[in-house]
Amino acid sequence: MKPIISPSILSANFAHLSKDMDMINHSEADWVHIDIMDGVFVPNISFGFPVLKFVTELTKKPLDVHLMIVQPEKFIPEVKALGASIMNVHYEACPHLHRVVQQIREAGMKPAVTINPATPVMLLQDIICDVHMVLIMSVNPGFGGQKFIEHSLEKVRELRALIDRTGSKALIQVDGGVNLETAKLLIEAGADVLVAGNAIFGAEDPEKVIQQMKAL
Ligand code: DX5
Ligand code: ZN
Repeated sequence: MKPIISPSILSANFAHLSKDMDMINHSEADWVHIDIMDGVFVPNISFGFPVLKFVTELTKKPLDVHLMIVQPEKFIPEVKALGASIMNVHYEACPHLHRVVQQIREAGMKPAVTINPATPVMLLQDIICDVHMVLIMSVNPGFGGQKFIEHSLEKVRELRALIDRTGSKALIQVDGGVNLETAKLLIEAGADVLVAGNAIFGAEDPEKVIQQMKAL
């Protein structure tokens, strides 16, 4: 099956955002990945809901919202109001993850959970059947353009085994340092969804990179 491609607009040019969003709209990209950071959970701040309100009006592609913030459950109504399909929260930011997952579902969105590079896959064992997707961070979250952490490939294989063993229907997403080279390895390891920022928006022909990723 072809991979699902979700370009991360963190690497887009916000001064000419409608141009970059038009590119995504015309491309073979499946989703749009939106990174929200708070300067607390991660050492960076990206963009907030007043800005995103206008950004999300520029596309009809499903929005895949990745919250790198503490207490993400506080913002379920705001994420829903953006029109998000998927609301993705960090395992490390949610002591009551099961409750947050239910709340996201009750709000009418698909719940997803992200794990940082140092968080083991096996910690997802008791939530894997309740989530639509698991995101394996292949860099430490907070910045675009970082180097892919090789061990992430092993984590994708482990997650694939956990999904197969439990009968979960969760998709496997990977985010951080994804380019044409790492994307190929990730698909071989069992990834379903690839997020890419720099590899797409830093390219001379972003639409072509999306097409090439899709064809891997
Ligand atoms: C990083 C973000 C990523 C980021 C990926 O914390 O979650 O989505 O935009 O950027 P690249 O693909 O450049 O590593
Ligand atoms: Zn992300």
